[in-house]
Amino acid sequence: TGCFTYDNGFTATASCRSAITYIDGDAGVLLYRGYPIEQLAQNSSFLEVAYLLMNGELPNAAEFDSFEHEVTHHTMMHEAFRTFLYGFRHDAHPMAMLVGMLGSMASFYHNDLDLEDPVQRRLAAIRLIAKVPTIAAACHRYSIGWPIRYPKNNLEYTTRFLHMMKEVPSEPLELSPVAAKAMDLLFILHADHEQNASTSTVRMVGSTGANPYACLAAGVAALWGPAHGGANEAVLKMLAEIGRPENVKSAVDKAKDKESGFRLMGFGHRVYKNYDPRAALVRKMTHDVLGSLGINDPLLDVAMKLEEAALKDDYFVSRKLYPNVDFYSGIIYKALGIPVEMFTVMFAIARTAGWVAHWLEQQDDPENKIGRPRQIYTGAPTRDYVGIDRR
Ligand code: CMC
Repeated sequence: TGCFTYDNGFTATASCRSAITYIDGDAGVLLYRGYPIEQLAQNSSFLEVAYLLMNGELPNAAEFDSFEHEVTHHTMMHEAFRTFLYGFRHDAHPMAMLVGMLGSMASFYHNDLDLEDPVQRRLAAIRLIAKVPTIAAACHRYSIGWPIRYPKNNLEYTTRFLHMMKEVPSEPLELSPVAAKAMDLLFILHADHEQNASTSTVRMVGSTGANPYACLAAGVAALWGPAHGGANEAVLKMLAEIGRPENVKSAVDKAKDKESGFRLMGFGHRVYKNYDPRAALVRKMTHDVLGSLGINDPLLDVAMKLEEAALKDDYFVSRKLYPNVDFYSGIIYKALGIPVEMFTVMFAIARTAGWVAHWLEQQDDPENKIGRPRQIYTGAPTRDYVGIDRR
């Protein structure tokens, strides 16, 4: 009934026009504002990429300095956030805390909620890019019972986050340049990915005129699922369960068995049907990082063996299932000392850049309409109410 098309999972529906990110899934191409991801990974920094996504062009030196200055001067959390944070159970998952903390931001920063004003919209976007790492680090420290650290504003974005998250006063954190570069690179690769589930959620909520903090809280909630950003945590748990290269074959067999309900985490993608260009970069980086940090992680052997076995198997080949960005990212995060429950939070920090860029683009778009999909009704036809004594 009705004159609309059934498109389960939106596999063939464009929900908006966007000039931010381009993906060619068959060719394995990913461009941010026209720039190939490989070139940005090689030459840029996460903060520069955040500027690019938001503004459409790479900044010149003065523009970058001013953007960095603005972001750096919004990194502090409102002190009352602490009380809010301390209300969570001590063992809450940091993604659960992040959803709540972002949702609460509208109550702390209600002075930039005049959505008609582009200056205030931009300020909210800067606040989000600046404060999400501070909030994320605080969630982690709270969950392990450590006191919260203030941001060190003399550090650059990614390193500042690592310090806030990991440093203890008695042992100043010495970050190797390789670790800092690896984090920055992972953040660049995760910064945007056009209309993925969480970004579409941000835009769906944004289409109603809701405030940007509520939009991003909804985005974080969507990201948490294991089919989306939660995959990086799920991959590491899966590799640990497989444990040894000898067990890879039975894991592959289980993933092929639909009855098992088990999928190879970090494999497959809705859009990439050739390879995920981000996965190629992460795979190479995994070897570089582990090599230069002198880490011999047996999970890397399991991952390589799993990739090799799946790529030779007709089930995966015929369905065009390749490793995605999250197949190797967890091994790097583990090597950098990031706890597994923080992996999806790392994704959220990076994707904040994309989410705010999409929210800003949508708010500027004269074609913006409330998102309101239709459905194919499968319920009962019209029938008469029956009193409880006659049921
Ligand atoms: N392991 C085993 N079989 C799979 C897998 C997998 N990881 N992924 C897809 N399939 C099968 C699926 O059962 C189906 O088989 P059939 O045609 O016989 O019914 C076929 O491949 C197509 O799968 P689909 O579920 O229709 O594909 P989708 O586009 O709806 O889902 C996906 C894409 C990423 C959700 C899915 O591949 C998946 O669940 N992967 C594992 C989770 C994961 O790694 N997610 C991270 C995605 S990348 C990071 C991000 O952007 O969030």
